[in-house]
Amino acid sequence: MNDTVIKTKQLTKKYGTQTVVNKVGLHVQKGRIYGLLGRNGAGKTTIMKMILGLTPITSGSAEVFGREIGGNAKRIYSRIGAIIETPGFYPNLTGTENLEIFARLRGTAFPNAVKNALEVVGLPYKDKKTFAHYSLGMKQRLGIANAILHDPELLILDEPTNGLDPIGIAEVREFIKALSVEHGKTILISSHILSEISLLADDIGIIDQGVLLEESSMRELEKRNGKYILLQVSDIPKTMLILERSFHVKDYSVQDEQTVRIYDTALNMGEVNKALVMEEITVISSGICNDTLEDYFKKITGGEGIA
Ligand SMILES: Nc1ncnc2c1ncn2[C@@H]1O[C@H](COP(=O)(O)OP(=O)(O)OP(=O)(O)O)[C@@H](O)[C@H]1O
Ligand SMILES: [Mg+2]
Repeated sequence: MNDTVIKTKQLTKKYGTQTVVNKVGLHVQKGRIYGLLGRNGAGKTTIMKMILGLTPITSGSAEVFGREIGGNAKRIYSRIGAIIETPGFYPNLTGTENLEIFARLRGTAFPNAVKNALEVVGLPYKDKKTFAHYSLGMKQRLGIANAILHDPELLILDEPTNGLDPIGIAEVREFIKALSVEHGKTILISSHILSEISLLADDIGIIDQGVLLEESSMRELEKRNGKYILLQVSDIPKTMLILERSFHVKDYSVQDEQTVRIYDTALNMGEVNKALVMEEITVISSGICNDTLEDYFKKITGGEGIA
């Protein structure tokens, strides 16, 4: 069984001579939240538009549910909910009235679709307030409600928390999480805010100047960037043998022929040093390091970072 819901291969978009998306291969797994992180102009919206067939692909491919979207658009769209650009809601109608129009247009079969969608995003059903009088946060919520009206399996949300205050961001984050955890939706979400993605996503793709610099699970990334002991020694194989046998160290990664990262930071380094010296291993240096995710992003994007 194939659990990859979105898969792009060498996905590329050129506008004239400018390459704005460059050979991107991203993989969104079923039931997970994938955060696409990148600063303004990195290419996030363009990638999402290509995945949805809203803008032509210059080269490469994008598959959704195992098929290229090209000729299958209509059938696949019923399984996807998206907000790429704010949908054109009618200002003089209420949220409920707006959604009822969209539900009818889309031929939504579920009788309580509008009520349910509003409930998920925390907006009142049959409220008197017209869209024109909605706050930005309410407008964003209505946009998401509209995207989930037909109960799609896959949600593609382009910066859904843009412009919200911190409380609004936290609330939207909570119900996006619930859509994944409680309703089993697969979600591709973009943002330029590192903290937002790191709190929400299971997997992360970091895009910079159209290039996907990194794709990994959040867990893996945190592990690589959390606290660890950095040990530099003259003989790594012998050191690892001692650490495994005498200190029961299992969680480590060898960086090069002299350096190892040990993630078990409770290790008694005094004892380790002593044991290594007794085996005639030179300890060049040892110490606790703590890289933050932010440091990491700064490093890989080669600039001021994203957060
Ligand atoms: N229709 C277009 N014609 C020419 N260039 C475009 C067009 N659409 C986007 N671009 C360029 O492509 C690049 C990527 O844009 P895109 O909107 O995908 O970035 P983004 O990551 O979504 O940015 P933001 O965080 O600002 O939304 C930018 O340099 C942008 O100027
Ligand atoms: Mg964008």
